[in-house]
Amino acid sequence: MNQIEYENYHDTSKAYDNTRIPIGIEIYLGCFAGTNRPLLEQNILDAGCGTGNYIQALKEKVGHLYGLELNGGMLAQAREKCQNDANIQLEQGSLLEPLPYHDDTFDGMMSNQVLHHLVAASSQENFEPVHKLIKEAQRILRPQGVLVFNTSSHPQLYDGFWWADLIPEAVGRIAKRFPPIEIMNSMLKEVGFDRVGIVVPVNTVLQGENYLDPMGPLKKDFRDGDSTWSLATNEELERAFERVRTLNQEDSMVQYLETRENLRKNMGQTTFIFAYK
Ligand SMILES: C[S@@+](CC[C@H](N)C(=O)[O-])C[C@H]1O[C@@H](n2cnc3c(N)ncnc32)[C@H](O)[C@@H]1O
Repeated sequence: MNQIEYENYHDTSKAYDNTRIPIGIEIYLGCFAGTNRPLLEQNILDAGCGTGNYIQALKEKVGHLYGLELNGGMLAQAREKCQNDANIQLEQGSLLEPLPYHDDTFDGMMSNQVLHHLVAASSQENFEPVHKLIKEAQRILRPQGVLVFNTSSHPQLYDGFWWADLIPEAVGRIAKRFPPIEIMNSMLKEVGFDRVGIVVPVNTVLQGENYLDPMGPLKKDFRDGDSTWSLATNEELERAFERVRTLNQEDSMVQYLETRENLRKNMGQTTFIFAYK
């Protein structure tokens, strides 16, 4: 792991897909359709592509997909999944470095739940790595190309995930790594992007079917599906486990989930920020 990375994706890569699904594909297609070339002629970059889930979901809808990913374990999963797809090209590399692509290459660039991995806890409120990435995106996008980030707002981090309430200290830690949406907006405009907007899908969750597992937090696979858990101390984890056991034993988990889900259904888990060159 590098100094900034706090989640061991080498270990979690094999089980990652058990608790993560691609979301907002219709949002991406809408954003890509707003550029100036037909979808089937477009080149799209997935920055921090992980196990390739978004690329797979889009491979029949757009011309060519490129994935850039830092972690060898995640990339190996993506390579296996994409091995028979002639229109997909994957590469290992870091979003903290100049992107290995020529100017004016892509019609669209997306990045799903990656920004918080680029920001060191100590560099909070600076978000320089994100600023640099936005500048690089501006360089490699074609005129009228679109940049889309799938991230989460701070309120979503606290109340868009039912289990976040079990580990509030860890949520506080991860929140420092998430650039607030207003800051993202300003950075995009400052770099020269136009038509900046957001879409918040309230009916969709990152963890798919497993999300509402009432025993989920007790399972490693479930916790591995969201890096917030890796920022909880052992003591905080024990406290969370105890609470889950008690809620289940006392039959109050259903009520608890309902209360938490009412919040999530209002605000969603994710915010998609788009901006055109
Ligand atoms: C939460 S996962 C999201 C993976 C994928 N985008 C998805 O949504 O399924 C974060 C990903 O960012 C990658 N990542 C972290 N730092 C990175 C960097 N500096 N450059 C490229 N990828 C990075 C991690 O290895 C991991 O695959």
